[in-house]
Parts: sequence; structure tokens; C-alpha cells
Amino acid sequence: MYVIAGATGNTGKVIAELLLAKGQKVRVISRSADKLQPFVNQGAEAFVGSLDDSVAMTRAFSGATAVYVMIPPDITAKDFRATQDRTSDALAAAIAGANVSHAVSLSSVGADKSEKTGPVVGLHQFEEKLNRIANLNVLHLRAGYFMENLLPQMGVIHSMGMMAGPLKGDLQVAMIATRDIGAAAAAALQARDFTGKQTRELLGQRDVTMNEAAAIIGKAIAKPGLSYSKVPDMMLKPALKQLGMSSSMVDLLLEMAGALNSGYMTPLENRSAANTTPTSIENFVADIFVPAFRGNAAGA
Ligand SMILES: NC(=O)c1ccc[n+]([C@@H]2O[C@H](COP(=O)([O-])OP(=O)(O)OC[C@H]3O[C@@H](n4cnc5c(N)ncnc54)[C@H](OP(=O)(O)O)[C@@H]3O)[C@@H](O)[C@H]2O)c1
Repeated sequence: MYVIAGATGNTGKVIAELLLAKGQKVRVISRSADKLQPFVNQGAEAFVGSLDDSVAMTRAFSGATAVYVMIPPDITAKDFRATQDRTSDALAAAIAGANVSHAVSLSSVGADKSEKTGPVVGLHQFEEKLNRIANLNVLHLRAGYFMENLLPQMGVIHSMGMMAGPLKGDLQVAMIATRDIGAAAAAALQARDFTGKQTRELLGQRDVTMNEAAAIIGKAIAKPGLSYSKVPDMMLKPALKQLGMSSSMVDLLLEMAGALNSGYMTPLENRSAANTTPTSIENFVADIFVPAFRGNAAGA
């Protein structure tokens, strides 16, 4: 039995569907039974519960061959870091309590650092908590910058005719599509070829700059010449709050952007076949960004 946390989310959904397609037994976790129904229709067992409830998660993880764990980002949380810590405490307690032998966790590039990387500090702590569990074999997947982070640019393009954000335009960023993380996690859960406490970076198909991303998106949405501008933090803060982020989240996000811009937060591994994944930025833009952009425009 494979147990998947965050099964209705970006990475968890891909993992659950890949395992179900292989005929594996899968238990999917969500706070909503309704959202789990599509997986149940494919043969999965539903578990309704919250990831910050250690008692529920101990039940969810019992009997697992392997579990996939991640900390759902609650961008509205008044104290984002405290929310992350509550969830990582609960997940670690449940993994220990249910005597899980193998876990794959979703972490991030930069999780080697214990401070000054914004939300990634919460993933550093998550790794540490899991690493302290005796007898647990755990693989931390340190993913690069999600290509899905580009989706909020749809609103910026509509309102300002350009792309904007806190990253330097010419910064080389290891950008990854979340479906590639899901595929790597599903493979690791089935192979269980990791022992002790291990990390593995997932760096996407190639490094991409925001300037390049803007050019690729511009071409795909028939706005040739679409450009990207780095915006000063003080100007970004109100815009990010308008997207629904708490002040705590905004501050952490800008700290992370600063850490990326300065090179403090950067992959530790050289790019290799093992940490390179298939989806290119061009594929992501064609498959995900453009349909979302068109849908957005149609609904506007
Ligand atoms: N953005 C990046 O560039 C980046 C890079 C590296 C790592 N990361 C990390 O990736 C993770 C996010 O992964 P993801 O995109 O796969 O997640 P996601 O799509 O945001 O999915 C999270 C899922 O978790 C569920 N959830 C939320 N709160 C919950 C709760 N209290 N209890 C149970 N389930 C809950 C939600 O499902 P229900 O509503 O169905 O409960 C949601 O579908 C974060 O930890 C983030 O730090 C992000």
C-alpha cells in the first residue's frame, strides 16, 4: 500500500495516478472526500484528514509499504513558518508512530541551509525531523523552482502587458514542471532503492532565466516581445498581498528570491542525467500555461 499526502495537489495527483495506472494499491489523503472520488473511481482507498493531525496521519500511514509526504503551502497563514512546523511535526510523529520503513519527501533546492531562504527553511526543518527517525529510509527530493510559479504571471500580462517579479531577469534558474517531480517520486516509491537518509536534487530539463521564459511565453500567446522586469521588493509587496498572500508569506517569498538572486540558494549537484527531468519550459508553456492563459482570457 502506497500512501500519498497532498494527493489532490500538483505533485501528489501525478504520483497517485501513475501508481494506480500500474495497478498498485494506493491510499490517498485529502481534507475532502469529494476531491478524492476520482481516485476512488480508479481503485484507490480514500483517507480524509488533515496533514497537521498526527493521530489521523498515524492511522493514514499504518500498513504502508512507502509514503509520500509534503508540506502544503498555506499562503494565507498569518505565521507561515509556524504552520509549516506544525505540519512537519505531525508528519514526522505519524511516520515514527506508524513505523513506516520508506518515505519520499518533497523538499527544495536550498534545503541544505538552515536560515535565510524563506519558506525553504521549513523544508530544511522537515528534512531534519525525518532524518531523526531511527529505522526510516527516507529520500528527500530537492526540487528546483516550479514552472507553475509562472502561472500568476497571467494576471500581470493581462493588466500590465509584461511579466514582473522579484527574480533577476538574467538569473539561471533550475525550473521544473511539477509533473516531473510526481513521476520521479512515483518511481522512487516503487523502487525503494534508498537506504538511510538521502537527498536527490531534481533540476528540470535545463536552467532557464525569467527573460527567456518571457520570450517563450510571448511567442506562445502571440505577444512577441513580451518582456520581464525585476521589480523592487517595496513595489511587489502590495501586489503579492493582493494575490491573497499574508504578510508573513510575502516576507518569506522575498527572502527566498533574494537568496536565489545572490546565489546563496543554489543547487549543490552538477547537472546530470539523474537530476535532469524531461519537461522543457517550451513543453510546459504549450501544455499548461497557454491553455490556462486562454481559459483565463475567455473567463475574463
Ligand atoms: N513552488 C516552488 O517553486 C517549490 C519548489 C520546491 C519545493 N516546493 C514545495 O512543494 C510543496 C508543494 O507541493 P505541491 O505543489 O505538490 O502541493 P499543492 O499542489 O499545493 O498541494 C497541496 C495539497 O495538499 C492538500 N492540503 C492542503 N492543506 C492540507 C492539510 N492541512 N491537510 C491535508 N492536506 C492538505 C491540498 O489538498 P486538499 O485540499 O484536497 O486537502 C492540496 O491539494 C511545498 O512544500 C513547497 O514548499 C515548492
